[in-house]
Amino acid sequence: MRAAVIGGTGSVGRLVVHELARRGDEVRVLSRTAPPATPGGAVHHAVDLTTGDGLAAALEGVDVVLDLANATKRPQELLVGGSRRALEAGAAAGVGHHVLVSIVGCDRVPIAYYGVKTEQERTVADGPVPWSILRATQFHGLVAGLFEATARFGVRPRVRVPLQPIDPAVVAARLADAAHAGPGGRLPDLGGPRRERVADLADTWSTATGRGRVPLRIPLAGRTARALKAGGLCAAEGPAQDGAGSGGPADGGPGSRGPTFAEWLAADRAEGSR
Ligand SMILES: NC(=O)c1ccc[n+]([C@@H]2O[C@H](COP(=O)([O-])OP(=O)(O)OC[C@H]3O[C@@H](n4cnc5c(N)ncnc54)[C@H](OP(=O)(O)O)[C@@H]3O)[C@@H](O)[C@H]2O)c1
Repeated sequence: MRAAVIGGTGSVGRLVVHELARRGDEVRVLSRTAPPATPGGAVHHAVDLTTGDGLAAALEGVDVVLDLANATKRPQELLVGGSRRALEAGAAAGVGHHVLVSIVGCDRVPIAYYGVKTEQERTVADGPVPWSILRATQFHGLVAGLFEATARFGVRPRVRVPLQPIDPAVVAARLADAAHAGPGGRLPDLGGPRRERVADLADTWSTATGRGRVPLRIPLAGRTARALKAGGLCAAEGPAQDGAGSGGPADGGPGSRGPTFAEWLAADRAEGSR
């Protein structure tokens, strides 16, 4: 299979590139900046999703596109406009499958970025190429990054919001499965092995790193807070209510959903000190 991984140098994209190359696929890595190295004969193609530059040539002869780019500044242009440009270029090149990664609960929690992800999902579902969409929960590294940021002020957040963070390697493996399975529409949501409150995750991070020693209670109010506190960003544990299957235990058991945040953190820190 010939696969093009848009955002193939990002935190989940580069793991997908590794996984597909390991499975013997011919992989193209699409991003603006070339990585220092690519695995298993993968070839970098310079593309800019915000203009469409490079897309037509990069998608020539490709079977499946994995749409894994990201931007936190002006995400609308990259995620919605970029997916539309990738779909149009893919349709022109005869691509048979477009795989998008999205976020569990993006349509439940009224945060601007999640609104953009919901619109990106619609763009793909209404687009000209047969598709799959996999929603995943927050990656462990994103959660650790949040605590890094608050620890600069010496604090750790005490927030009663449940999250279900996941190792991006598990998401990457599921995306590679999806690419091989063919167009599957909205796939079962994928969440990490455990639901934990931000306050507890912060305690775990603080104990492991010795930083962010002062707990800071952050009162949350309003519509967004209610959606977050209700577990809006967590994957359902039973049959899903919203048209997708469940990423819960029935979907392979907790073991298939990778390490907990504490386990991931320990492994990450052990690797960092080597
Ligand atoms: N992070 C999480 O916790 C999480 C959880 C669930 C789902 N997701 C979803 O996963 C996807 C990837 O997120 P991530 O955190 O892995 O991203 P990331 O690490 O920030 O990587 C972003 C990737 O997009 C590329 N990119 C940025 N601007 C581009 C442009 N104009 N044209 C082409 N490529 C461009 C970057 O390469 P260049 O800068 O070199 O172009 C890079 O390869 C996003 O759709 C996100 O919503 C993330």
